[in-house]
Amino acid sequence: MSQVAPHNPPFVTLQNVTADLVAAIETPNAAGIAAAIGRLISAGDLPVGTRLPTVRELARALEVSPTTVSEAWRTLASVGAIEARGRNGTYVRQVPGPGTAQRYRRVTEGPGRFALDLSTGTPDPALLPDLGPVIARVSRHDLTSSYLDRPVLPDLEDRLRDRWPFPPGSLTVVDGAMDAIDRVAREVVRLGDRVVVEHPTFPPVVDLLEQLGAEVVGVGLDDEGPVVAELEGALALDPSVVFLQPRAQNPTGIAISERRAKALAGLLAPGRAIIVEDDHAGDVASSPLVSLGRWLPERTVHVRSFSKSHGPDLRLAAVGGAADVIDAATTRRLLGPGWSSRILQAVLVALLDDPTAIAAIDAAREAYAARRARFATAMAAHDLSVGGCDGINQWVPVPDERAAVVTLAAQGVGVAPGQPFRVRPDADHLRITTGLVAGGAAALDALADQVADAARSADGAWTNRRR
Ligand SMILES: Cc1ncc(COP(=O)(O)O)c(C=O)c1O
Repeated sequence: MSQVAPHNPPFVTLQNVTADLVAAIETPNAAGIAAAIGRLISAGDLPVGTRLPTVRELARALEVSPTTVSEAWRTLASVGAIEARGRNGTYVRQVPGPGTAQRYRRVTEGPGRFALDLSTGTPDPALLPDLGPVIARVSRHDLTSSYLDRPVLPDLEDRLRDRWPFPPGSLTVVDGAMDAIDRVAREVVRLGDRVVVEHPTFPPVVDLLEQLGAEVVGVGLDDEGPVVAELEGALALDPSVVFLQPRAQNPTGIAISERRAKALAGLLAPGRAIIVEDDHAGDVASSPLVSLGRWLPERTVHVRSFSKSHGPDLRLAAVGGAADVIDAATTRRLLGPGWSSRILQAVLVALLDDPTAIAAIDAAREAYAARRARFATAMAAHDLSVGGCDGINQWVPVPDERAAVVTLAAQGVGVAPGQPFRVRPDADHLRITTGLVAGGAAALDALADQVADAARSADGAWTNRRR
């Protein structure tokens, strides 16, 4: 039985918290510690904002190893019950409810709100390959399989290994790039770890890392990828993981050059950080794929999604590289869904071989490149410089992003504000999925006019502040 009666007033000093936690913890293993603290939080005995003792303090008081307490902290962080604030300590947190405004939820309003919704970051459905004929072919094969079959169809594994940017120690298939990142992050991120991401970056990755109790460190980008000096500074914090998007970076459209990849690998070589690469645009990216796995194969986990190229609802991505990380994720997955539908895997194999599908994806890649180039040219005519070179999203500098989002929304155009993508304070931007703009040059020029007008009308002084 818990020996802690409801407190009024609740815990005040750190010393009391430690003593009361010790009293409340009946079973001093990781699960028992997490459960006891969870009960105290639910009962209101540990109010939101209470600072918890350090891992070492509690371990000492309970006479257990710090690893046991860390594991309990990790469990609590994974359900959002506590949060690490770096050196300031670990705190009881407001458990996020379904309506909490997390970063990801602030990007897009959801379907059906705008006549032209360019806030989504999704591919143009008209540019996806037709699945109909392929599904008809696949359905004639016998795919019934045992729970003990290999998680990846051998035909798919062969094709993936052929196109992998370095020889992967292990390789598997999961339900999309975010599923891959989620599974890998859960293996390699510990509560309180520092984790490097690009600044700006894809908001769900930051949401996920914060949920795991990591301290997110942003590294700025230039035209060739993460800035070397910034990564050097971040590595001094001994991060456990570095997340990168090798090309078509969301939101900026930047691709990492080969020489930059080599320089980054050189910096990372002496450390311990695992590198997770998210090639989310895959076959519709137009830049050559570079991977740090070429230099650091045992510490690189490379993710290749088929969502943008072959269809978001195929929900398939491959993850290959560092065997210890991928094997741990695969083993853990056996306790859950076990594998990604082999029917969908067979559809993907057929699409990868099918000349019509290959031609459709080639055409999509060209269409996306043409759309982004035209939009950048049209924006340049308005003296607005839009960087990046690849993918379906463009990162547009504006004087006041909130005002510009509202002005465009009033005209039926949905765009994403830059704020959820920023890891640290920086200039205002919009993320616009120009890859969704069908209708050729005229439509892109018209969009550029609207965006430039929205930027200008949102800030009377804009003409004096042109970038
Ligand atoms: C950078 C990045 N990673 C991952 C994803 C999600 O990919 P998937 O649909 O394969 O989960 C996206 C989707 O837009 C993305 O932009």
